[in-house]
Amino acid sequence: MKLLVTGGLGFIGSNFIRYWFKKHGKDTIINIDKVTYAADFHNLDGIESKYNYVFVREDIANKETVLKVAKNVDAIINFAAETHVDNSIRNAKDFVKSNVLGVYNLLEVARRYGIRFHQVSTDEVYGTLPLNSHAKFTEKSKYNPRNPYSATKAAADHLVNAYFNTYKLPVTISNCSNNYGSYQHPEKLIPKVIINAVLNKPIPVYGNGMQVRDWIYVEDHCSALERILLKGEYGQTYLISANEERHNIDVVRAILRILGKDEKLIKFVEDRPGHDVRYAIDAKKIIKELGWKSKTKFNEGLRLTINYYTEKLDYYRQKVGI
Ligand SMILES: NC(=O)c1ccc[n+]([C@@H]2O[C@H](COP(=O)([O-])OP(=O)(O)OC[C@H]3O[C@@H](n4cnc5c(N)ncnc54)[C@H](O)[C@@H]3O)[C@@H](O)[C@H]2O)c1
Repeated sequence: MKLLVTGGLGFIGSNFIRYWFKKHGKDTIINIDKVTYAADFHNLDGIESKYNYVFVREDIANKETVLKVAKNVDAIINFAAETHVDNSIRNAKDFVKSNVLGVYNLLEVARRYGIRFHQVSTDEVYGTLPLNSHAKFTEKSKYNPRNPYSATKAAADHLVNAYFNTYKLPVTISNCSNNYGSYQHPEKLIPKVIINAVLNKPIPVYGNGMQVRDWIYVEDHCSALERILLKGEYGQTYLISANEERHNIDVVRAILRILGKDEKLIKFVEDRPGHDVRYAIDAKKIIKELGWKSKTKFNEGLRLTINYYTEKLDYYRQKVGI
């Protein structure tokens, strides 16, 4: 296969490229990435010299280049997006450009050549669940995005579905829960907590820390995406989760415990405006229809992630300037 991966210098995209080459070493991957602050060339150390890897520095919203690059590819898998909710609250413009116009552009290119298209999306499009309930999002849940980031991701999902319905473009969508693992930008919760804890710096926690997130080790997300690309039914959405719900504060405490650090480092800060309290996904459909299963338990994945960031501490410390 010849795959066009977008946003491959980011967290999940780079893990996906590594995963794909491990499993399908002879396939060709073209990676289009605009190289925003969230991109990191180090995420693909050792990959960039491969004969079957091509990097193109470009915005997915630039149609001319994408048209040239996508000629003769078998599938496009779109990771490229602005992803940090806090940034979207400060300024949503780049989110609309990359996450909506960018996807429109990729869909147009896919339509021109009749290319298989997969959209990597998020559970955040479904909004929030009550804190003390067992309710979970399913493929039938109503879209209810509540911050500018999730609104742009929801808009993109609707466009992808519309291109299936209107033009019969061979598309699939996946909505995944919160990822963690190696190569994640240290602005995100788990790497930030690890780095601050190791350096004995205060650990900011939004509100009372009781928000619930459903965590998945990034390699498990990659294996689910592989399954969907190879076996998914066109026009379908698949929800992905490892069924590992945790309160944010419990994630922070678990990291402190593993690192042998004092809980006094925790500093509760003013809550994020419109903060969704709970996300939880029912992944029955992908498990039943595509035979996918997550492999990594949260405690095991957390240890692997802590090892990764503590080994690379100097690098990440410099990156965030602490
Ligand atoms: N991180 C999660 O927990 C999570 C969960 C579910 C879904 N997702 C989705 O997965 C995808 C990847 O997330 P991530 O956490 O790896 O993000 P990330 O912020 O780590 O990486 C995003 C990458 O996309 C690139 N990019 C941004 N705008 C671009 C544009 N216009 N053109 C080309 N490249 C561009 C950036 O340079 C960066 O390399 C996103 O679409 C996100 O919505 C993420």
